[in-house]
Amino acid sequence: MDIKPQIAVRADIATPETASYLFALAERLNLPLIDAPDQRFSHVLTYRNSRLELDSQEGSATASLTVDFLSGPANYRFRHDRRINQPLARAAGIKRGYRPAVLDGTAGFGEDGFVLATLGCRVMMIERSAVIWALLADGISRARKNEEVRQIFDQRVTLKLADTIDYLNFSESSYDTVYLDPMYPSRPKSPLNKLKMRLLRELVGDDYDCSELLTAALDKARRRVAVKRPAKAGPLDQRTPSYTVTAKSSRYDVYLTPYL
Ligand SMILES: C[S@@+](CC[C@H](N)C(=O)[O-])C[C@H]1O[C@@H](n2cnc3c(N)ncnc32)[C@H](O)[C@@H]1O
Repeated sequence: MDIKPQIAVRADIATPETASYLFALAERLNLPLIDAPDQRFSHVLTYRNSRLELDSQEGSATASLTVDFLSGPANYRFRHDRRINQPLARAAGIKRGYRPAVLDGTAGFGEDGFVLATLGCRVMMIERSAVIWALLADGISRARKNEEVRQIFDQRVTLKLADTIDYLNFSESSYDTVYLDPMYPSRPKSPLNKLKMRLLRELVGDDYDCSELLTAALDKARRRVAVKRPAKAGPLDQRTPSYTVTAKSSRYDVYLTPYL
């Protein structure tokens, strides 16, 4: 059983400008605002080092999570891997001279969406966890201030706080590719990923409704649905894909929707 984390927004260590941003954020996310350390909350959102951070208590230590496109693994990929034949790109349907319009229905930290946008796709990122959305929105707004990365976000990325199942069922918009990466138990084991995925799991738990998400995606995608899965897991909802693309520690199940 998932234990719901107790989350608060802490404004006292912020500057006056960022404090007003944090007040507005607490109101928008419907989270309590605190002005000193408070044991009742397992997770605290605050503004530090010019960025929104989520702190979680690890015994006597504090682990911090932030979304960053300007350094770390996401930026490394941006700088060094623009291959259109990398597994994610192939799964999404990228080809020489063709860039699908993508709905990233499980945006998370936006890393996969950023890769697809870097390769030239327009990407609508949707995230339903308000806290993850806030971290991602902050990461994007910092990226928009960076000369190298700004264009990608300004021209190709839109972020929305919503449940993708509702969005797919009720929106008029349509997308060539719907990309899904719902939560699953085993993830790559690098220390950063471990921390990120552990905090993500604490916040959002397991995506129990992912078969509903897949159904909505198959119904709406113009050309394909690509689902990221652990290398050894069965297909989502036991639905046989049209084909699979193998990656290092995972695979992508691709459903070609016109042929289903
Ligand atoms: C494994 S993470 C995705 C990681 C992401 N691909 C990346 O590169 O950072 C899964 C995310 O999907 C979100 N999610 C799951 N189901 C969703 C839904 N129906 N609508 C919107 N977001 C959803 C979860 O809240 C979680 O943040």
